Amino acid sequence: MITADLVIKNASELLTIKGASNKPKVKEQLSNLGIINNGAIAIAGESIVWLGGSNEIKDNIKIDKKTRIIDAKNKVVMPGFVDCHTHLVFAGSREKEWVDRINGKDYLEILKNGGGILSTVNATRNAGEEELLNRALHHLGNMLNHGTTTIEAKSGYGLTIDSEIKILRLLKKLAKKQPIEIVSTFLGAHAVPPEFANSAVYAKFIIEKMIPVVAKLADYCDVFCEKSAFSAEETKRILLAGKKYGLRPRAHINEFNEIGGTEIAKEVKAIAVDHLDVVSDDGIKNIREAGSITVLLPGVPFFLGTEKYAPAKKIIHAGIPIAIATDFNPGSCYCESMPFIISLACMKMKLSPAQAINAATINAAHAIESANNIGSIEVGKQADILILDVEQHTQIPYHLAANPVRIVIKKGRIVKRN
Ligand code: NIG
Ligand code: FE
Repeated sequence: MITADLVIKNASELLTIKGASNKPKVKEQLSNLGIINNGAIAIAGESIVWLGGSNEIKDNIKIDKKTRIIDAKNKVVMPGFVDCHTHLVFAGSREKEWVDRINGKDYLEILKNGGGILSTVNATRNAGEEELLNRALHHLGNMLNHGTTTIEAKSGYGLTIDSEIKILRLLKKLAKKQPIEIVSTFLGAHAVPPEFANSAVYAKFIIEKMIPVVAKLADYCDVFCEKSAFSAEETKRILLAGKKYGLRPRAHINEFNEIGGTEIAKEVKAIAVDHLDVVSDDGIKNIREAGSITVLLPGVPFFLGTEKYAPAKKIIHAGIPIAIATDFNPGSCYCESMPFIISLACMKMKLSPAQAINAATINAAHAIESANNIGSIEVGKQADILILDVEQHTQIPYHLAANPVRIVIKKGRIVKRN
């Protein structure tokens, strides 16, 4: 008999998402959620110690007075969402630019004229640490509320050595102050700040002066490879320099233009390539050869109004793993809700609910190289679990902009009740 601190029973659907902790799900594997009907889970400490049918509990689990029991009747139980692409720490607001875009202005045009990302850089440089911390905590609270239990978060709104260090240190502090785990990424190459003549000069500064001092504070190095940001060649140099200092490579590529990012993914062996809203068949072939996981961000074309979505079905057909994420940031997707992003992935990229849910859990965990511990409900894994107020998983994306999350469990502890 197994002893447990917490038992969840009677789940109408227990989405285990099992069987892909070593390698992300591809092709038809993405359609399988490993569902146990009338499912149950036992948790001891921070870990999952047993799962099965609710009728098997009595033969397997030692229940005593100290065991807490949650009845999940008529509810879906699933792993916490992994939001594997966010820009969490920033100050200021960009609703004016958002309205301008509704009236026809272009995102890259705004950036070229010193607005967009650079207006957030200006606000963030001028903000005190306390303000940045409180704002980020507020957004983390919204994420937790919508069932996110782990995130990747990027720097990239400082763009000086000191302010990038400030943001990366803040991410460490934030991880200690609330339940969501944070994997951090250095995105010094987010935009070219006004004090540099061009991207080439700034890229040199990033490589020679920034990476050596920020490397110990982050897990990954990222670059915005795009017109009006960084060329493919600069992206390659920055990512290779990061690699030398132990920062694993990932990149924003093919968001608006195809400028060679997929070739670079191959050359640097990028762990993840994100966006892919504009990608040719050759580009898809390059990504397959790179072995990268793709992180698709349907909230961005939706929020920007470009309505150009990554060709998710083609990417899946090519045998490339997909993850989905919010890209939470003040410019291109001001949204913390993974359930909403799952809805968009279904409606705009034509993913099935099962494909989108796999992409938001186990494959997203792979995108941050954490799938050995999170992203599915399996014995031995960390107990990051959601109890949702829906009877079937298809209702998660179907009920648009509703929040189905009722209970969030992080590392075996109930950390949120809605
Ligand atoms: O992923 N494209 C570059 N970076 C973000 C947007 C950041 C911003 O607009 O502030 C993105 O879309
Ligand atoms: Fe981004």
